[in-house]
Amino acid sequence: MKNFKRTLITSALPYANGPVHIGHLAGVYVPADIYARYLRLKGEEVAFIGGSDEHGVPITLKAKKEGITPQDVVDKYHGMIKDSFEKFGISFDIYSRTSSKIHHETASEFFKTLYDKGDFIEQTSEQFYDEEANQFLADRYITGTCPRCNYEKAYGDQCESCGSTLNATDLIDPKSVLSGNKPVMKVTKHWFLPLDQYEPWLREWILEGHKEWKPNVYGQCKSWIDGGLNPRAVTRDLDWGVPVPIEEAKGKVLYVWFDAPIGYISATKEWTPDWKKWWKDPETKLIHFIGKDNIVFHCIIFPAMLKAEGSYILPENVPANEFLNLEGDKISTSRNWAVWLHEYLEDFPGKEDVLKYTLTANAPETKDNDFTWKDFQTRNNSELVAILGNFVNRTLVLTDKYYNGEVPVSGELTEYDRNALREISNLKAEVEKSLDTFHFREALKNAMDMARLGNKYLADMEPWKVVKSDPERVKTIMNVALQITANLTIVFEPFLPFSMEKLRGFLNLEKFSWQELGRTDLIGAGHKINTPELLFEKIEDEAIQAQVDKLLATKKANEMEEVKVNPAKDNIEYEDFAKMDIRIGTIIAAEKVAKTKKLLKLTIDTGIDQRTVVSGIAEYFEPEKIIGQQVSLLMNLAPKTLKGIESQGMILMAENSDGSLVFVTPASKIKDGSEVR
Ligand code: MF3
Ligand code: ZN
Repeated sequence: MKNFKRTLITSALPYANGPVHIGHLAGVYVPADIYARYLRLKGEEVAFIGGSDEHGVPITLKAKKEGITPQDVVDKYHGMIKDSFEKFGISFDIYSRTSSKIHHETASEFFKTLYDKGDFIEQTSEQFYDEEANQFLADRYITGTCPRCNYEKAYGDQCESCGSTLNATDLIDPKSVLSGNKPVMKVTKHWFLPLDQYEPWLREWILEGHKEWKPNVYGQCKSWIDGGLNPRAVTRDLDWGVPVPIEEAKGKVLYVWFDAPIGYISATKEWTPDWKKWWKDPETKLIHFIGKDNIVFHCIIFPAMLKAEGSYILPENVPANEFLNLEGDKISTSRNWAVWLHEYLEDFPGKEDVLKYTLTANAPETKDNDFTWKDFQTRNNSELVAILGNFVNRTLVLTDKYYNGEVPVSGELTEYDRNALREISNLKAEVEKSLDTFHFREALKNAMDMARLGNKYLADMEPWKVVKSDPERVKTIMNVALQITANLTIVFEPFLPFSMEKLRGFLNLEKFSWQELGRTDLIGAGHKINTPELLFEKIEDEAIQAQVDKLLATKKANEMEEVKVNPAKDNIEYEDFAKMDIRIGTIIAAEKVAKTKKLLKLTIDTGIDQRTVVSGIAEYFEPEKIIGQQVSLLMNLAPKTLKGIESQGMILMAENSDGSLVFVTPASKIKDGSEVR
């Protein structure tokens, strides 16, 4: 184990193209904040760095769509994000932003240093170019038809319909988002970080040197390294970002993933003139808090950049989290499937700690996890209220009632008392072990065990009964209960800072240091506590239902948008309907109709006969895969000859919004020839 003097904590810079939600909080900012508060409470030297990531293509697209400048976009969201973090008590030493002057200078200088040392390789390639807009097109600036699923609005990097990762050159019929024109290919030059050259070093540094990293992090690194690393372009043809500081690259900017992590350095610089000790002294321990989609950037690319530069320290650990889902579905900004922090703050004022508690108790540390409002309510009502709040409240109320709020003198401790107090020290050791290894869920559970201990102590000692028979003994019991309560203000401080400030107010105590956790004389006899109030309140079903309803409304709105529902047709008489002879049949043979793209020739067993039907479903079904499929067949449609084949009827298909087709099939198997009416 290396010995470190101080800890530099960074948390991923959120993109300033939207507000932040519970997924951000759970994955990155809450664990980083717990860690920072814990170390500070121990009296360690800590810097906790955050800021907004204000470059990248999505921000420019959003600006274009809204008819404002990218700077307008980031100003708006940087303000919102910063405000949400502040209100949730994320205790950054600085929350900066990458559109700042100091960041542009820092990132620019960093590039220049590597450039001057000859660390980059230069490569020309052909890229899409919009001749009307006179600019090169980033992947997101190109749309076209997906070669896999035929979705017509696929992006140059991804098809959102079938989820395939694409290259812009894969798109059928590509169009520029800027002008709508077909882009042309044009030669452009870019600068690449030759990651392949760092492979032996990365292997050594991570795979040999950091086996203690979380399995999900280590595993991702290993598969990247084993898969072979390629040079990575660090420049882009774009007009929003940090300009590349060389004459030859006029009009180009640094790739957002090159400049953003340097944002950690610029923010530190902005925070203190003494920034070098944080970034260049090997006695500083650097920890990156991030989500799993950021692992390669923080474990491979940024370290390679730092290594290339040569004067910086490298991360000691990168405790990346998995993802948080919401009520069973992936959180999605574009589909508004999220709990936005600014909305939560309005809907649940004063309950910042409750959300942080739930997100930590259910943190996606080792696998993706689900946030549900029901669980949120249960965590509040059955844990914060029923365990922690209940113990604290009983202790305060009884002290108030029996002793007018004055801490009683303890008599001699029983064996049971001593065991209870000793358990606090045991739990302290547990919490520390968990926090030191980034197991925040476990740490919170350990802390909660301390509250459980208090609850059990009071329940077993029953001071409200003993007070009649042995009032002297009750003084000792209440003194012990108060010592446990005072210890709770320490152990919960990293997790529930607002609530612990409140609790210290009730107890009329100052903040203790972490080292004092475990002491059994934190409150002296005669100390006067304040009139008790409730630490946590129950959350009623109505409040939860309101949130669930809000999500249901979102879901509905999304579905409406997806299905292009045609307007209803005019009414018909039953007789009109009854003219149709619709029956269930089974496909017994199928083949493609030669020289057509869409047609299949099907043989259908109708229960009455076997007949031929030509159907326009070839784009969605392979003939050999639909043999045996039951279908609904309109039998008495006048026969029609298609490509020389007589089609005797029509099979019924339901159409998805993207035009793809599915069979209309009986919900369970039924005899061929059964009528549909
Ligand atoms: N903006 C990125 C994201 O939200 C994170 C950037 S982290 C940094 O995924 F290190 F690059 F700053
Ligand atoms: Zn697709």
